[in-house]
Amino acid sequence: MFPIPLKKRKKEIPVPAHPEVSAGLFPGVSIFLVERRMGAARRGFLTALAQRKGFTVAQDYSDEVTHVVSEQNSLTEVLGWIERKTGRQVQCTGEQKSPHFLDIGWFTESMSSGKPVPVDARHCLQDERTPSSTAKTDHSAVLPYACQRRTPLIHHNSQITDVLEILAQAASFQASEVRFLGFTRAASMLKSLPYKLQSVEETENLLWCGGHCKSVIQEILEDGVCREAEEIKASKHYQCMKLLTSIFGVGVRTAEQWYKDGVRRLDDLKDPKFKLTAEQRAGLEHYADLQLPVTREEAERMQCMIREALQTFVPDIQITMTGGFRRGKQQGHDVDFLITHPDDNALTGVLKKAMDWMDGKGLLLYRHLKERSHAPYKVNRNMDGHETCYSIFALPVGDLKSECELEASGVVHRTGSGVTSPIWKAIRVDLVVTPFLEYPYALLGWTGSKHFERELRRYSWQEKKMTLTSHGLFNGEKKCLILATSEEEIFAHLGLEYVPPSHRNA
Ligand code: UTP
Ligand code: MN
Repeated sequence: MFPIPLKKRKKEIPVPAHPEVSAGLFPGVSIFLVERRMGAARRGFLTALAQRKGFTVAQDYSDEVTHVVSEQNSLTEVLGWIERKTGRQVQCTGEQKSPHFLDIGWFTESMSSGKPVPVDARHCLQDERTPSSTAKTDHSAVLPYACQRRTPLIHHNSQITDVLEILAQAASFQASEVRFLGFTRAASMLKSLPYKLQSVEETENLLWCGGHCKSVIQEILEDGVCREAEEIKASKHYQCMKLLTSIFGVGVRTAEQWYKDGVRRLDDLKDPKFKLTAEQRAGLEHYADLQLPVTREEAERMQCMIREALQTFVPDIQITMTGGFRRGKQQGHDVDFLITHPDDNALTGVLKKAMDWMDGKGLLLYRHLKERSHAPYKVNRNMDGHETCYSIFALPVGDLKSECELEASGVVHRTGSGVTSPIWKAIRVDLVVTPFLEYPYALLGWTGSKHFERELRRYSWQEKKMTLTSHGLFNGEKKCLILATSEEEIFAHLGLEYVPPSHRNA
């Protein structure tokens, strides 16, 4: 796909570490970024980004400003804010050409194009309208890709999306990718609506919500249940596939084969004719614990424990919690961590050393270390090329945090007779090591949700002819790698509005 080795290509791209601030390549364009709701940090980031691309950005509002850009504000709010800040009354009438009062969309499109794009009606700030009535009547406001929308964790249509997700899962159990994606996209669209769907007519202009999905939505709105989903839930095949795929290390294909071979209960797998992988054996052994949700408190204790181990070898190593917890979930099926350091050499071998160290303390129940792939840009869509450790930890129950406490408590083996309450809980943990240059891409890729990631990649390719992975962004036409120093910069490269992790629950 990309004939030039990654390393070689990296050298060919001049991406200065401290790019010079240009005096302005576009005379007649002076941007003012409104800090209200944007925040100082993001304003600083966007200012630097625009300056690197040759735009003039004014720190203060003045007559020189030609493009006032704000995020999540109405026109009234922006005018009021400027008045309060400057003590000047600012007018914005239809005839007035300058300044333009624009939404962030104009800015991201301009950054992506490398030049100011012409101002269009859709870029201009509107006067205050109530958000729900706007969204309800203006369905064109609902953009087609999930990565263009904001999807909160708690939304208004879970009664419908829960059912659509059962249908999606059943489709995946039948290896029907098209139907799986159809139901998943419809569910995701409804999750991003800022109001509760009241009637099936409201789906009229919603992408992905026609046909089969529409009849499902109608049934739920009218009857409160969907017959097809009820039949699926009651079916032996669905129940059994759900049970088997919930074992760590078991995918749909293996589960289907076992089902055909007559497996109906976990105990059936004890038959030696079923050759289980080490991962599946560990998954079965700790099945009960792994079905329990991991709480945020447990995830945080896990982070302390792993950080302590890593810092034993590299004191200033960085560890970040990603996955669902970064998106604001209060519980998850596992905990995902990203590990990096500004000096790539410091990362060599550190994961293995830390895992050995924790193993020595009896904190590990299972681990599989996957080395970094030499051609990370060729990775398949389900797996990236980062060095990764898929593991099961024995997290001490209670408030045991430090190494000394662990040793003193003799934490780790639940084998002693007479033990009435568990002293540890098995927890699935994924640890990913990423070179510093790839960190923003790895962070974006491992924060999820899975559907948000799928949509980001689909958007990148279909709309921008770029390939996005958790290693980088590759421009298919120019055959080059685009570096980024933050997630916000990646969204800007793609011409997308920034979506914070809390709104990536697509
Ligand atoms: P998870 O499967 O852990 O999901 O993948 P989650 O969103 O954290 O939800 P929980 O754990 O069920 O609560 C997290 C992110 O990591 C990426 C996925 O694409 C997802 O976006 N991921 C996961 C990979 O990139 N590669 C993998 O091998 C596994
Ligand atoms: Mn996770």
